[in-house]
Amino acid sequence: MYRTHNNGALRSSHIKETVTLAGWVQKTRNKGFMIWVDLRDRYGITQLIFDEERTPKAMMVIASSLGREFVIQVTGTVIERESKNPNIPTGDIEILVSEINILNESITPPFTIEDETDGGEDLRMKYRYLDIRRNPVRENLIFRHKVTMAVRNYLSQKDFVEVETPYLIKSTPEGARDFVVPSRMNEGQFYALPQSPQTFKQLLMVGGMDQYFQIVKCFRDEDLRADRQPEFTQIDCEMAFIEQEDILNTFEGLTRHLLKEINNVEIGKFPRMTYDDAMQRYGNDKPDIRFGMEFGELNAIAQHKDFKVFNSAELVVGIAVPGGNSFTRKEIDKLIDWVKRPQVGALGMVYSRCNDDGSFKSSVDKFYNQDDLAKWAEATGANPGDLICILSGETNKVRAQMSALRMELAERLGLRKADEFAPLWVIDFPLLELDEETGHYHAMHHPFTSPKPGQIELLDTEPGNVKANAYDLVLNGNEIGGGSIRIHDKETQAIMLRHLGFSEEEAKAQFGFLMDAFEYGAPPHGGIAFGLDRLVSILGGQETIRDFIAFPKNNAGRDVMIDAPAPIDEEQLNELNLIVDIQ
Ligand code: AMO
Repeated sequence: MYRTHNNGALRSSHIKETVTLAGWVQKTRNKGFMIWVDLRDRYGITQLIFDEERTPKAMMVIASSLGREFVIQVTGTVIERESKNPNIPTGDIEILVSEINILNESITPPFTIEDETDGGEDLRMKYRYLDIRRNPVRENLIFRHKVTMAVRNYLSQKDFVEVETPYLIKSTPEGARDFVVPSRMNEGQFYALPQSPQTFKQLLMVGGMDQYFQIVKCFRDEDLRADRQPEFTQIDCEMAFIEQEDILNTFEGLTRHLLKEINNVEIGKFPRMTYDDAMQRYGNDKPDIRFGMEFGELNAIAQHKDFKVFNSAELVVGIAVPGGNSFTRKEIDKLIDWVKRPQVGALGMVYSRCNDDGSFKSSVDKFYNQDDLAKWAEATGANPGDLICILSGETNKVRAQMSALRMELAERLGLRKADEFAPLWVIDFPLLELDEETGHYHAMHHPFTSPKPGQIELLDTEPGNVKANAYDLVLNGNEIGGGSIRIHDKETQAIMLRHLGFSEEEAKAQFGFLMDAFEYGAPPHGGIAFGLDRLVSILGGQETIRDFIAFPKNNAGRDVMIDAPAPIDEEQLNELNLIVDIQ
């Protein structure tokens, strides 16, 4: 037996017992006549002691040769510690070692294996297996496991069946680029890795599975951010014979269960907000509603004077920053610089200070009097002591800029509290979205989403105004899930694909299998997929999903540990018919 206990198990009740432990050397303290070693494993740390009086000389020599991260096995007696350590569960005892076995040596690790390490991100990713030895990373992975198990158990209890769907498929459009895999046996042909199991889960509904889920890897070749990885995990779900209301209730139940089980937070009914409302009130379809600072539209009370900037704008919008009147002129100037950064893209920012005596002092006092400014305060809900920040311009752009400013200010003011949870449903998404570059409409969710009843006729006349039975679950300003009620008849699917610019032949070639299936009694169905990585990281109080993935990719999509992607040799290229003769 390698060990009788793990390194987090021993307490004073074990004193006098002979035990065998194994693990990594966290650190040693060598006073010459006495050597202490912190032995670490996944479960904790146990202090070992070697001392001149009680330990054979040969063993003292071995103990003094131990380096950081050596793997050792020791046998010894549990004894009471002289100076106890109340900070760790095993702090009352130590092990007086009688046998030691070095299982493996270690060269000096490139960074310290401590909660606060001296290793930068790149180095930690290159040696991720060492990083995983650190408490915060290991705890995140265990946390992920707990969330995943809670999801599986909950859905399984509710009669959902987990079904695996293939990874080598034909492209399914979800808005990103595909990763493709060449086929050796089918010269010149490629599989695509699924961006999601969307069409397969719909086919499972046609197949009568009724309630499906799958915790499944998805692959998207898109630009990476803190909340995006090229391969990520979905909790993918689909139900038959349901309406939107059933889906919202079922998955609100799952989310509520997770918040209770994992975070011990009880949340009542989730608020619901239409997409249009979310855009108007927060400038964003995934609003963080843990704090206020809602948008106040000021067109009617700001476009009646000679201020050209506002008069020529499609939208003038303000937010009240709580306590913002305490910002110095310099701080406000910095904020203005911040909104002018190319990433935000505003041309400038107007502001109005709300003084404690009820008066106002704005950056546009030349144009607006106290009565005007009082109206702005009313429209933005500003109180004495607040600062009103105002942006203007083209509606969509201004909303995005103001939303960025709102989030930035909330972050700076500490209003985005990690242990506070504010979920909501955003519903009634538009069916189509205009691609400004190409001038074409594409599906805002995906091409299988059904328009709201009675709206399909509008596709010809007002495509941008057609609403879909599509919804997102938003938690603390993050889109953690999205789904829709699907089209389940061939004719509607054909109309939809035509509007998305597919010719009849293209539609048949790409989605013929799905449309054919719809001809064999497809039940009404719909579903949702949660981003597991995002869900886990937000429940864990963080927003960087990389920290909750064992072996993540960096921002360039590379795994720096195994050094992938990498070229393949000519023989392999040949076999796959990928050699292009350039002559
Ligand atoms: P959607 O594309 O909205 O829907 O994806 C569902 C959820 O997956 C997460 N997500 C990601 N997480 C990490 N990295 C990424 N690159 C990434 N992309 C998406 C998000 C998102 O809400 N088939 C549909 C679902 C359905 O209609 O049932 C789909 O995939 O949290």
